[in-house]
Amino acid sequence: MKGSLKAVITGTGSYLPDQIVTNDDLAKQVDTNDEWIRTRTGIRERRVLAEDLATSDMCIEAARKALEDAGIAAADLDLIIVGTVTSDMLFPSTACLVQHRLEALKAAAFDVSAGCTGFLYGLVTAAQFLETGMYRTALVIGADTLSRVIDWSDRSTCVLFGDGAGAVVLEAVSNTDYGILGSYLGADGSGAHLLNLPGGGSRCPATRDSVEKGLHHLRMEGKEVFKFAVKTMGEAALHVLKECGLSQEDVDFLIPHQANLRIVDAALKRLELPSDRVYTNLEKYGNMSSASVPVALDEAARLGKFQKGNLLLLIAFGAGLTWGGVALRWAK
Ligand code: COA
Repeated sequence: MKGSLKAVITGTGSYLPDQIVTNDDLAKQVDTNDEWIRTRTGIRERRVLAEDLATSDMCIEAARKALEDAGIAAADLDLIIVGTVTSDMLFPSTACLVQHRLEALKAAAFDVSAGCTGFLYGLVTAAQFLETGMYRTALVIGADTLSRVIDWSDRSTCVLFGDGAGAVVLEAVSNTDYGILGSYLGADGSGAHLLNLPGGGSRCPATRDSVEKGLHHLRMEGKEVFKFAVKTMGEAALHVLKECGLSQEDVDFLIPHQANLRIVDAALKRLELPSDRVYTNLEKYGNMSSASVPVALDEAARLGKFQKGNLLLLIAFGAGLTWGGVALRWAK
């Protein structure tokens, strides 16, 4: 059956919290300034989720918009995958909470943990179910509430991240030129120490000591992650294009993970793409982890940036270490 069925994005949606935290706001809390943050990262402000909400609440909002955009009822979903590293609880999965609240009663549901590559890992996984004919309709969400795990007194990390959620509806379509053309996923666990959250799991459960030592906060070796990102973003993009028999000139839009404008610029340079072929929004939202790619996709789509038949290249990197790329022909 594979070959005759493709996974096609038929709807997108996103949710951004209302509360805006500017660089100047952060400069009142830690020893930083707007100029440093802007020149090193491209970020001007980020969103922070209200205290009484959690990741699944953002997922629901993004999902409802994506379902409406696709004209699909939640009851028709066969599968829900959430890419996240900040699930509401360690278990059950956030996807199960979303499945219940959407009343998507026949959908299987699970989370994918692949750091900031979580949405792409989820998208590729869902596509396999559709391409084999096992399922017809899937909802893939990328959502993270990193504000809950950031050390707000650490200037080297607290300025980088923000909260948000993005979602897509994927449908299996036969004999079409549109949809996902190819993908590539990479992982290298030897870099696990470069970006992680040590506390709260089975190796280091929550104790008074673990809290006092700050082990429940995100830790990152920024310089090393930067080098890894610059290398893998370009590599992932070229790998996918080669797999699809395409070249850089065929790319109409690059939708990269939005962690740092300098990393995006390096990917553009490696791909020899002009800056009008990339969509970025990190100046408004910072690095939203799994949500970055689907939020950018949704925003660009709603702004009318894409034409039917455009070749889109989605690329990301993140904790794990992980990285990946997806090439797709826009169908809307
Ligand atoms: N404000 C002001 N100064 C800061 C600062 C801040 N928010 N954060 C760090 N600094 C200081 C450092 O302490 C250092 O000072 P020193 O030279 O006196 O030691 C100086 O700025 C330079 O720091 P450095 O780490 O060399 O900056 P950088 O150019 O490497 O940029 C990052 C730092 C984090 C922006 C960059 O490394 C990066 O983007 N890394 C990738 C992060 C990423 O993508 N993570 C997500 C993965 S999904």
